[in-house]
Amino acid sequence: MRKYLTRSIAMIGAAALLTLSACGTEREGAAPADTGGSAAAPAKGFAADALIGVALPSKTSENWVLAGDLFTNGLKEAGFTSDVQYAGASTTVADQQAQISAMVTKGAKVIVIGATDAAQLTTQVKQAKEAGAVVIAYDRLITNTPDVDYYIAFDNFKVGQLQGQALLDGMKAKKPEAPWTVELFSGSPDDNNSGVFFNGAMDVLKPLIDKGDVVVGSGQTDIKQTAIQGWKAENAQQRMDSLLTSTYNGDKKLDGVLSPNDTLARAIITSVKGAGKDIPVVTGQDSEVESVKSIMAGEQYSTINKDTRKLVAETIGMVKSLQAGTEPTINDKDSYDNGQKVVPAYLLPPVIVTKDNAAESYANDPKLAPLTQG
Ligand code: BGC
Repeated sequence: MRKYLTRSIAMIGAAALLTLSACGTEREGAAPADTGGSAAAPAKGFAADALIGVALPSKTSENWVLAGDLFTNGLKEAGFTSDVQYAGASTTVADQQAQISAMVTKGAKVIVIGATDAAQLTTQVKQAKEAGAVVIAYDRLITNTPDVDYYIAFDNFKVGQLQGQALLDGMKAKKPEAPWTVELFSGSPDDNNSGVFFNGAMDVLKPLIDKGDVVVGSGQTDIKQTAIQGWKAENAQQRMDSLLTSTYNGDKKLDGVLSPNDTLARAIITSVKGAGKDIPVVTGQDSEVESVKSIMAGEQYSTINKDTRKLVAETIGMVKSLQAGTEPTINDKDSYDNGQKVVPAYLLPPVIVTKDNAAESYANDPKLAPLTQG
């Protein structure tokens, strides 16, 4: 069964999530089938020093900043010529469209894309295919096009499930008895991941919401109500400010907030602190430096370890396979239906991190390991 979601499916209301929950549950525990290859792209091989284009979104979180440098250095080390571009902060979609077209014109053999807007690259990836380039969607799926060959990412549905479970665990640790009062946040509506994260989290939370054990104080459970445009901290802070005013004035307690990433988690915590309230259990994602510090200080509750170094290394591995004329390794052929095709994917496992396992989780990360000592 096709389990994950095109953007349109991701945008359904909470009411329909029950059906999706069933799909998500079905998947649990099932190891991804290692199908070892796919007939998606004609891998003909190309010159060892060929141009590889990498089009990344604007730097909305640390992982994107890291990815750019890792791609530049890694592709160079592998002998390729690289063209790594970021979309600007405001005209993101138009920037990225122009950057991809330029890569096609320059003769890139592979174009790796972290999409700014999943549904707005149809023309550009068509151009790429017509010019004989292979298109790899990196971290974020590209939707509504048959012209994307592969998808490489951490398992995004699993990320959401881990976030939902962490929210519950954190709240139970503070207050063993239900009900718990929460608010839900999701990412930017133009990023396909936002719906997948949210649906993964709702796979865990929805049964408890239905039972009345988890109460969404504001009643805002639809992804349209929870979305934070552009993944911007200021938009999350603003929404939290208004929720606090509308729903949590006086002594009304907020036990937890589902936050889809670290940038938004810190904005939510800033808002709550500003209102003089106790910090609720707040989830996150990305293992950003400031959030790891916050977790060690007992403020943010959790984050997700999605090691960008691994994701970039695996992507460069895919490029090397294509260069050699062999099919890249694929471990998921069912999950990522982009509305036009099921995109063969290589998914890496995300890891939940709280104060309890931070030292262990970041032991091999020279930047984060020192933050978890003592
Ligand atoms: C990535 C997250 C990131 C978010 C905002 C998502 O597509 O998967 O890791 O936090 O974009 O940049």
